[in-house]
Amino acid sequence: MKVMVVGGGGREHAIIKKLKESEKVSEIYALPGNGGIANDAICVPIGAKEIDKIAEFATENKIDFAVVAPDDPLVLGAVDALNEVGVKTFGPNKAAAIIEGSKAFSKNLMKKYNIPTAEFEIFDDAKKAYEYLETAPIPTVIKADGLALGKGVIIAQTREEAKDAVRSIMEDKVFGASGNNIVIEEFLTGPEVSVLSFTDGKTLVPMVSSMDHKRAKDNDEGLNTGGMGTIAPNPYYTDEIAKVCMDTIFIPTMEAMNKEGRSFSGCLYFGLMLTEKGPKVIEYNCRFGDPETQVVLPLLKSDLMDIMLKISDKELKESDVEFMDGCAACVVMASNGYPEKYDSGFEIIMPKDKNIYVAGAKLEDGKLLTAGGRVLGVTETAPTLKEAIDKAYETVKTVSFDNAYYRNDIGQRALRA
Ligand code: AMP
Ligand code: GLY
Repeated sequence: MKVMVVGGGGREHAIIKKLKESEKVSEIYALPGNGGIANDAICVPIGAKEIDKIAEFATENKIDFAVVAPDDPLVLGAVDALNEVGVKTFGPNKAAAIIEGSKAFSKNLMKKYNIPTAEFEIFDDAKKAYEYLETAPIPTVIKADGLALGKGVIIAQTREEAKDAVRSIMEDKVFGASGNNIVIEEFLTGPEVSVLSFTDGKTLVPMVSSMDHKRAKDNDEGLNTGGMGTIAPNPYYTDEIAKVCMDTIFIPTMEAMNKEGRSFSGCLYFGLMLTEKGPKVIEYNCRFGDPETQVVLPLLKSDLMDIMLKISDKELKESDVEFMDGCAACVVMASNGYPEKYDSGFEIIMPKDKNIYVAGAKLEDGKLLTAGGRVLGVTETAPTLKEAIDKAYETVKTVSFDNAYYRNDIGQRALRA
């Protein structure tokens, strides 16, 4: 089969490496991919948001199957466009991708179907939001309704900070139209767990759980990033909690989307917080997480292509998905300065035989050069989490590029759990 993957980060690299293991897959194209992905797929210079060009490329090159990985093209309707030209696709259509594309939609969905989440109010008017904040419990959480490159969530410790957040999102429009509406919600506490799931709208199979490390610096200090590392499975996510999540969150969400006429097919991602009052949904994503995918897929025993084909035929069964018993750790190596200003263009030297997922790099005269904030993720698997973490940091030592930065404590919180 000729397969194409839309996107060009570490997540897409992990998906491509896993698809390559399948006997069913003969050729893989990445749109646009990146300099590191070029080792494992044919990169085509079409951007992930160029929906018309993506559909055109698929038709002209007789692509048998397409995987749309990032949030933007999913929310913009890439799957609908590919289906229109007769290409089988993994990922939700536009109507279902709204579960990530609009936080107002997802919060109202949870309220309507009694799915546990933080208490909230939605505002389309800044004045009303300021009024509400006069008496709202503090700390409070302000969220832009639409996509905001993972930066649309502000945890305000004071009323002033909360009002500043409303001002910048709703009046200064720092996230553009994504800030036309905002959600103000209750501040929750507890360990966070990411659970990705495969679903065809009829069956939902959770993948192995994971833990992201969003802050830039050790001990969860510094700015929020796209994710500086991950481990799987997440030790806080016990079998007992998994059962509660399945019964009160996962299945009810799948069924709620069906009832709304927005049946979800693809990878549905549950961002959960394990509060004293039980697990609650912090966010839904309509796609694989990044860098969660870089620890989850290396632990997948089953053939990923097979699972994706079954999902697109609406024939997914529990038994189709199997994970290994071991653990995985991924350490993200970034350009020093990320998520703010950083220099790039430095040559990357790395081993070829390792699970290294390249996120921000370009090929120039045969050399791989850094070209982004998050440059790559180094994943290792092992029977125990401690071994996986140690191995990942050993491998990190064999990778080098100028201006490299990484956290030294990925997985330490999980080890203490
Ligand atoms: P999101 O972009 O929705 O993943 O949110 C980013 C991060 O903000 C989450 O991973 C949480 O750590 C935090 N967060 C979001 N909503 C809440 C909440 N209601 N209470 C506490 N922390 C939150
Ligand atoms: N790692 C969080 C996300 O993919 O949204």
